[in-house]
Amino acid sequence: SESTPLKGKKVLVTAGGTQEPLDPVRFLGNRSSGRMGYAIAQAMQEAGAETILVSAPTDLPVPKGVKRVSVQTALEMHDVVLDNFSNMDVIVKAAAVADYRPATNAEQKIKKDGTNRTIELVPNPDILAELGRRKTSQVLIGFAAETENLLAYAQEKMHRKNVDLLVANDVTKPGAGFGSPTNIVSFLFPDGRRIDFPQMSKLEIARNLVEEIVNLLG
Ligand code: PMT
Repeated sequence: SESTPLKGKKVLVTAGGTQEPLDPVRFLGNRSSGRMGYAIAQAMQEAGAETILVSAPTDLPVPKGVKRVSVQTALEMHDVVLDNFSNMDVIVKAAAVADYRPATNAEQKIKKDGTNRTIELVPNPDILAELGRRKTSQVLIGFAAETENLLAYAQEKMHRKNVDLLVANDVTKPGAGFGSPTNIVSFLFPDGRRIDFPQMSKLEIARNLVEEIVNLLG
């Protein structure tokens, strides 16, 4: 129907910033609050989709009617997303996934001894790029969080990760990016189309994303 255009569709959304442990009390993280991804999950559910939210740690409440699966690390997010991928119609990767993790996760709290320390990092899998390689009929939506050359970097990610729509945000702009209740985004499409949005709430952006997904599903 008109108010539930995604009825019968299965959507998986990722949200929040992964935490990569160093020891039992410390991790490497990032500034994602989860708000963008949670707003998207809410909008998908309101549009009638069966919605799974794969969430890194946040304080946000689960949107009504959404199934949340909690994860901590990029590797855990990778496994949950890959397990569900073949059953999904749409995947939206709003999470800020750590590109690297500490090479070792110490079993006990690391003690200080007054000397310099170096943390060795190893690359995490790029979940979105892997979905881009595996996708059959799924609609794949990626994000790009940039601090410079927004459109050029975003376009490069869109093609390299084989996504159907890329949401680009300049996370240095006031009112955009990490933590804020609003965002300033552009939607980029592989055919070269682009839609630039003014500053708006993350929920309004999510509702615009629903419209584009309905078009992409045909
Ligand atoms: O959570 P909020 O506080 O509301 O902030 C929202 C946001 C800024 C986190 C969000 O709008 C956003 O931009 N999310 C993507 C953040 C990010 O990691 O961007 P990226 O340019 O580093 O990654 C590009 C894409 O690849 C993203 O879809 C990301 O989920 C995905 N990726 C990245 C690395 C990796 N190892 N695996 C991935 O799947």
